[in-house]
Amino acid sequence: MNKSLRIFAPATVANLSCGFDILGCCMDNVGDEMVISLTPDPGVKITKIEGANLPLETHKNVAGVAVEAFLKEYNKDVGVTIEIFKRIKAGSGIGSSAASSAGAVWAVNHLLDNPFTPNQLVKFAMEGEKLASGNAHADNVAPALLGGFTLVRSYNPLDVVKLNTPKELMLTVIHPQIEVKTSDSRSVIKNNVSLKKAIQQWGNVGGFVAGLFTEDYDLIGRSLEDVIIEPLRSILIPEFNAVKKAAITNGALGCGISGSGPSIFAISKGQETANKVANAIREVYNKTGLEFDIHISKINNEGIKIINQ
Ligand code: HSE
Repeated sequence: MNKSLRIFAPATVANLSCGFDILGCCMDNVGDEMVISLTPDPGVKITKIEGANLPLETHKNVAGVAVEAFLKEYNKDVGVTIEIFKRIKAGSGIGSSAASSAGAVWAVNHLLDNPFTPNQLVKFAMEGEKLASGNAHADNVAPALLGGFTLVRSYNPLDVVKLNTPKELMLTVIHPQIEVKTSDSRSVIKNNVSLKKAIQQWGNVGGFVAGLFTEDYDLIGRSLEDVIIEPLRSILIPEFNAVKKAAITNGALGCGISGSGPSIFAISKGQETANKVANAIREVYNKTGLEFDIHISKINNEGIKIINQ
């Protein structure tokens, strides 16, 4: 059994327009690194954090609380140390906290010879999300743990389903360098939804899932519509409408807010279109004077990966 593991903990795009809190997918080339080790002294210690100003105290750190939830159910004396090398900025909308909590529980599970399935790890990682945003949503941690596209069919009882990944789908993600806290972004959402909007939204969720399985790219595109959350949250994101228009005009299948923002994602068929979309949205953002990053990524169907042992 290996006692120490270095992993890649990927960024994720949650909601995917129509699926607030239930849909997400995993990025391939953006993510954190973590080194997780088993130690003889029982308990969880965060020994190093680079790239972000985050708490080392276990109970205040998303990776710490996720591993503690894991060990509580595992119910044997285990010592764990966690080193975190953050590359995903907090408050970026591409699953920064999820990468840390999912990465930590995945690695501990691996080091202990997989007592839990990836699906069973979701609930432990959700404890990290609860600490980060006050809400235990699973739409970032599930795709990080399972890879590809995931659906949270139900929260109570928790039922997470891995969906199909059509090979040619590509993500273009723009991350404006402003921080939008998930808790703030959740506070602008209304608790009630009209039946008319609910019908539109669940039609789109069904269409999106069907489109993934039948690899019907046009159906995927038609289903990337959010009539409930996007109209309320998009006002928090500079030039959201202009970015969306530029993405669609340049061939994206769909475009929306990544998670709770401020990142914006576009999904395209093929690398060439994804590049074209990136250029078009770069042009929009160049005019704002704001700093930003743009990522072009395949869908990572594997999720968390071992870098070396
Ligand atoms: N579903 C969550 C939200 C994702 O939109 O608040 C946060 O990344």
